[in-house]
Amino acid sequence: MCGIVGYIGPKSIDSVLLVGLIKLEYRGYDSAGLAVISDGELTIAKEKGRIADLENRLRNLELRGHVGIGHTRWATHGEPSRRNAHPHTNSDGTLAVVHNGIIENYLELKQILQKKGYVFESETDTEVIPHLIDDFLRQGLTLERAFLATLKELKGKYALAMISELQKERIYFARNGAPLIVAMGEHAGQKEYLLASDIPALVPLAKLAYYLHDGEWGYLDNGVFLFNLENQHVDFSWEAVTIRAEDIDKGSYPHFMIKEIYEQPEIMRRILRRRLRQNQILFDELRLSKDFLSSLGRIIIQASGTSLHAGLVAKLYLEQRAHIETTADYSSEFRYRNPVVGGDTLVVGISQSGETADTLAGIHEAKAKFLRVLSFVNNLNSTIARESEGVIDLMAGPEIGVASTKAYTAELLNLYLFALYLSELRWKIQEEEKKSLALELQNIPSYMEEILQQEKQLRAISEYLADKNSVLFLGRTFNYPTALEGALKLKEISYIHAEGYAAGEFKHGPIALVTDKVPVIVIAPQGEMRSKMISNLQEAKARKGTIIAIISKGDDEIAALSDFAIEIPSIREELSPLLAVLPLQLIAYHTALLRGCDVDKPRNLAKSVTVE
Ligand code: G6P
Repeated sequence: MCGIVGYIGPKSIDSVLLVGLIKLEYRGYDSAGLAVISDGELTIAKEKGRIADLENRLRNLELRGHVGIGHTRWATHGEPSRRNAHPHTNSDGTLAVVHNGIIENYLELKQILQKKGYVFESETDTEVIPHLIDDFLRQGLTLERAFLATLKELKGKYALAMISELQKERIYFARNGAPLIVAMGEHAGQKEYLLASDIPALVPLAKLAYYLHDGEWGYLDNGVFLFNLENQHVDFSWEAVTIRAEDIDKGSYPHFMIKEIYEQPEIMRRILRRRLRQNQILFDELRLSKDFLSSLGRIIIQASGTSLHAGLVAKLYLEQRAHIETTADYSSEFRYRNPVVGGDTLVVGISQSGETADTLAGIHEAKAKFLRVLSFVNNLNSTIARESEGVIDLMAGPEIGVASTKAYTAELLNLYLFALYLSELRWKIQEEEKKSLALELQNIPSYMEEILQQEKQLRAISEYLADKNSVLFLGRTFNYPTALEGALKLKEISYIHAEGYAAGEFKHGPIALVTDKVPVIVIAPQGEMRSKMISNLQEAKARKGTIIAIISKGDDEIAALSDFAIEIPSIREELSPLLAVLPLQLIAYHTALLRGCDVDKPRNLAKSVTVE
């Protein structure tokens, strides 16, 4: 949610900043801007729209310099416009600030500054920052002191960067509640220093990185200088940047989303290789004691979006496999609902990015109640990973497409294995059962490959859906969350209204929506729920609904009742969510393409939601 970059070094400043911003565009893409010290003067370029629009604008500007900052925005305060785009400056245009987060006391600060005569150009919360720094400068503070004094005035969350004509060779930065990384690289024997909201923006330039902690600030010039809010020096150690350029490149795929859909079989193999060895289930990074885990009384899962859907499946895994009472809740609800808990409760956070503000707040809430916290994250350096006592690596590799795909199946598989791990610790699983499950799990990657081979047939379904206004998804038990996830994928990238329902609830209201113009996607693989799903399918069919069914291979009975049928390989019902979601991801992708939508950057959305 908003991306920040900064660079000091020998390379052409505008191209380094633009490349960094392009790689951060998944964090927000309604406007973008740069501030550069060019020929000794602060020069700003900003534009509404995508980075490509900013790039066009830069064609008319000759930027020369080697110190600069950039920003790609997801609007919170003030509509997407050039005026509200970052960087924001003080009135005489001598310093510029980019910011990610929300300054909660900005109205109060704005009023104080306005009384002093400051005129605001934008509707953003961010603009108070350059004016505040300016005000402290006028009171006689040095730039460094004015920056620190400003930080002390701000309430809320921020990652920010600032440059100024007053110190032309420096980039100031600070972090409180929003991610920020400083990094170092080398070009032609010369050191270069970088700053970014996320690691992809730093690849391939940065060789070493440091993930800032809350309350840290500092500056980059001929090195990295780091302080805390008491203005004491902070020692830090670099970490090697291991991410490769190909991990964050589309390669030969037209979109990140389709690349990431196709990566799923390989990710499943990777997870199984690491977590399953000779029928042993391994979570070596876990950091929670076996004693605690074996005596757990209750689990509360809290997550957002797609990650919550994985959590809803995991609730069933944990209850049925490990026999632990489990609830799964939206983080945005959990954080405010003040649940009744005991000392034997474990709070589990699930987050691809590890930065979602609501999920992080849920963790803070759990810690305030002295509960133990375990998080499943795709980035071990993320804030959620750092703030959780136990952590499990999803191992999905960087996910760039805004619509989550590979992280979802990685969450499902890791959560399933974790439920088995607990069932083992709590003596709830027989050795024979474990062996047979381990064998079945090994089939998942090749089963996924089989499903991906049906892309052409799935495209035909998308052709049918492309002109529809509303689509319903039905599933039961393990596949009720699949219905929610299928509907979320379709609505977020194709903008067709879509809802997922627990199929048994269908007759209690949603069935009123069914007409010959409202298709119903029924997730009905083999298993206990299959016959119940047939009844729900019949109910929809009787109301002239077009039926699209996800079925197990060879299920001729449901195929005959459906207008379209997609087969997935036969597998235990509890594992079917790992397979059944793939056709739904592909249907959403192709429907969005057919409707001319930008699948990797759907309107109004951002990948990493770092504000409430
Ligand atoms: C945003 C993304 C979703 C994602 C959700 C939770 O809304 O657009 O794709 O599922 O955040 O993200 P997390 O990183 O916490 O899994």
